[in-house]
Amino acid sequence: MHPTVVDTDVFPPLWHPVAMTADPSDVVAETARLRIRPWRLEEAPRLLDIHRRVAVVKWLDDGEPKLMKDLAEAQGRIEDYREWSASPPRGFWAIEVRETGRVAGSVLIVDVPNAENDEVQVGWHLHPDSWGQGYAAEAAAAVITYGLDHGLRQILALTHLDNHPSQALARRIGMERLGITEQWYETPSEVFRAAAGTWRPRDS
Ligand SMILES: CC(C)(COP(=O)(O)OP(=O)(O)OC[C@H]1O[C@@H](n2cnc3c(N)ncnc32)[C@H](O)[C@@H]1OP(=O)(O)O)[C@@H](O)C(=O)NCCC(=O)NCCS
Repeated sequence: MHPTVVDTDVFPPLWHPVAMTADPSDVVAETARLRIRPWRLEEAPRLLDIHRRVAVVKWLDDGEPKLMKDLAEAQGRIEDYREWSASPPRGFWAIEVRETGRVAGSVLIVDVPNAENDEVQVGWHLHPDSWGQGYAAEAAAAVITYGLDHGLRQILALTHLDNHPSQALARRIGMERLGITEQWYETPSEVFRAAAGTWRPRDS
């Protein structure tokens, strides 16, 4: 059992009241190499090819890896992503490599499970053919900037304790390590934070 070292007192309400509307065609951010925008239904085969892999899915959520089964499930997931993007600056987006138009994976800002103080988390999962190129870090820094610029007070990243690539990514982009908690998932998470006013993206 790991001690809960993250105190809810450090998580004040996260939202400034801002009026934003979500348009499914919205590009959320563009970086030197990437475009962050909604997943498209015709990209369901690519999403399936990411979520049918244990190497990706084993790090997401609690319990046994839940592998995606077929195209219908991938299409349904893309519809879900649109719904989850209806309350900006929350969202679940595709990371498009501008030079090729190919989707490297997903980056997201969503509520943590059972949030009590409006805590939100950033997440990332890429196809293995797109690892090792700095795309995840570039995309994560871009959506954190977007979220903080649009009213979020802070954004967390929650990683499995042995997910060293994710922890390295959080550190690489300048997120602050807060400690280990069992507050939001059944298994312990290592927690990182980007806070408005103090977070400055580091070069990935
Ligand atoms: C976590 C995950 C996104 C990390 O991907 P990643 O490609 O290692 O992360 P980054 O984008 O930060 O890339 C860093 C790597 O790219 C390399 N790189 C190459 N070109 C680069 C460039 N132009 N700029 C920056 N880094 C570059 C870096 O040297 C580094 O390589 P290293 O790991 O061998 O040192 C990926 O492993 C993944 O999708 N895992 C499965 C899902 C998952 O765990 N999600 C998180 C749940 S909390």
